[in-house]
Amino acid sequence: MTNYFHIPVMLKEAIDFLKIKLAGNYIDGTLGGGGYSKVISEKIGPQGTLISIDLDPLAIENFLKNNFKNVIVVNDNFANLEEIVLKSKKGAKFDGIVVDLGLSSAQLEDKDRGFSFLNNSSLDMSFGPAPEKETSFIINSYGVRDLERIIKEYGQESWARKIANNIVLSRKKKRISTTQELVDIIISSIPRKFWSRKIHPATKTFQALRMETNGELESLKKFLPIAVKLLKKGGRLVVISFHSLEDRIVKNFFRDLSREDKPIIKILTPKPLVPSEEEVNKNFRSRSAKLRAVEKI
Ligand SMILES: C[S@@+](CC[C@H](N)C(=O)[O-])C[C@H]1O[C@@H](n2cnc3c(N)ncnc32)[C@H](O)[C@@H]1O
Repeated sequence: MTNYFHIPVMLKEAIDFLKIKLAGNYIDGTLGGGGYSKVISEKIGPQGTLISIDLDPLAIENFLKNNFKNVIVVNDNFANLEEIVLKSKKGAKFDGIVVDLGLSSAQLEDKDRGFSFLNNSSLDMSFGPAPEKETSFIINSYGVRDLERIIKEYGQESWARKIANNIVLSRKKKRISTTQELVDIIISSIPRKFWSRKIHPATKTFQALRMETNGELESLKKFLPIAVKLLKKGGRLVVISFHSLEDRIVKNFFRDLSREDKPIIKILTPKPLVPSEEEVNKNFRSRSAKLRAVEKI
């Protein structure tokens, strides 16, 4: 395996909001390249515990090379947090929990995986070995209306209907099995004059298919209430999202739990934090990040 590379997004902000305590108990639900986990592990010291989770076995393998003594590394979905914590036997309550959603640069750039429209590989956009639904199944078996809905809703792609129709027409002739075949279908569906100057025409459709493959919104919805439940009083939850639907789920969930009559959490970010111009210039991937943080009352 090559180096599992990822530049952590809004690292300082996430760590500041977690207000990390020496000897504290923390969870990083999205280990990735380990950017957040390394800093948390250092700050909690040898008496602290960090549980770092990722669906991707390659992320796990990469981080295990560090041999951090105070980190328990778990290859699982953060939606299963309750079971993961029970199995870890590391106490039931936490001082802080963080998730930095989506995919890592290492995953995007891995030529053997199907995340990027720039490489030609098999149609597999799963974070781990057991996706909610296989990408090739979605492409070759979903009805045209479902394809359109996913591409429109998750990808916010205005050409969703045309792309969905063309996928169905194309697969009638021959099963679609590579990212290049999919890219060609997408490109032929969007008239050139409507191509964005900023992003590749396949960006939105690929994002939509990745989200459906991994059941990303469902995992987030399942994770949020468990995370709040597992926090100590005064414990903090930090969520970094990259998609407006994710951010809306987080925002509404936090708002509901902070209602005046019986608040369970206090919102620390009335407006989501976004990366500085300097960070976006250095790391273009960070451009759509939104950070929201709460404290358990
Ligand atoms: C943006 S990266 C995290 C980067 C990390 N914060 C860092 O600094 O290196 C997101 C990671 O979350 C993982 N992931 C996405 N959804 C997940 C889920 N539901 N459960 C566990 N891991 C997930 C992906 O496999 C990916 O490695």
